[in-house]
Amino acid sequence: MTADPFSPRPTPGIAASTTELSKVYGSGDTRVVALDRVSVSFREAEFTAIMGPSGCGKSTLMHCAAGLDSVSSGSVRIGTTELGTLGDRQLTELRRDRVGFIFQAFNLLPTLTALENITLPLSIAGRRPDREWLDRVVSMVGLGGRLDHRPGQLSGGQQQRVAVARALVTRPGIVFGDEPTGNLDSRAGAEVLGFLRDSVRELGRTVVMVTHDPVAASYADRVVFLADGRLVDEMVHPTPDRVLDRMKQLDTRARTS
Ligand SMILES: Nc1ncnc2c1ncn2[C@@H]1O[C@H](COP(=O)(O)OP(=O)(O)O)[C@@H](O)[C@H]1O
Ligand SMILES: [Mg+2]
Repeated sequence: MTADPFSPRPTPGIAASTTELSKVYGSGDTRVVALDRVSVSFREAEFTAIMGPSGCGKSTLMHCAAGLDSVSSGSVRIGTTELGTLGDRQLTELRRDRVGFIFQAFNLLPTLTALENITLPLSIAGRRPDREWLDRVVSMVGLGGRLDHRPGQLSGGQQQRVAVARALVTRPGIVFGDEPTGNLDSRAGAEVLGFLRDSVRELGRTVVMVTHDPVAASYADRVVFLADGRLVDEMVHPTPDRVLDRMKQLDTRARTS
């Protein structure tokens, strides 16, 4: 009997999780263990930041947890769905309907207006926007009069607001961001972080954000720390100072080990 990927499991309140997740790139001389048996859960309506030194596996963890990349061993769940049991088409649908993504480089389509970019995930799925939800998301990111502008006519901060709205438009349970403020100045970055926090507080979404910035991480409810592909620590109610201290310890450990 094959496992039913949609069967409910006793993990209520968990938006996504990994169990003993490992990811190996290459083989022989070029073999890199990017993730080494990482088990982590992201609770519903919680904002989690993933931190750690450059190259420690943050992006790999996010990509595997979001179903954007395959795993070498271990498992990943989005809600109660075990990704390893899904075929390509089911996986594509899950990513489309239940997960939102925000990237450092905005990744907007230059020929579409802001509004067309925001509703693109729905257009691709052949669905009409839920007007009320769309209005809420658009008013949250405050693009007001710029909805018919193209990305080239918007500042970086405004482009990332479009990307935040696009990530939310399908009403996904969970939104993943890989360094979403990495290309923004501190003021535009603070705005985007505020929207991510509102997505959790006001819209009830779950947000998981990779960052190397302690100030960005302090917007989260919880920070998980990676070093060398392993989950090494966790902090609730982070402040920039406490996060910075922990990062220094990890850096020292990385240099002396
Ligand atoms: N596509 C890939 N092919 C080979 N190695 C990779 C690939 N992607 C990432 N890596 C390696 O995996 C490790 C983790 O990378 P990454 O997840 O991008 O780290 P981070 O986001 O924390 O900087 C690094 O050693 C990196 O060089
Ligand atoms: Mg990265």
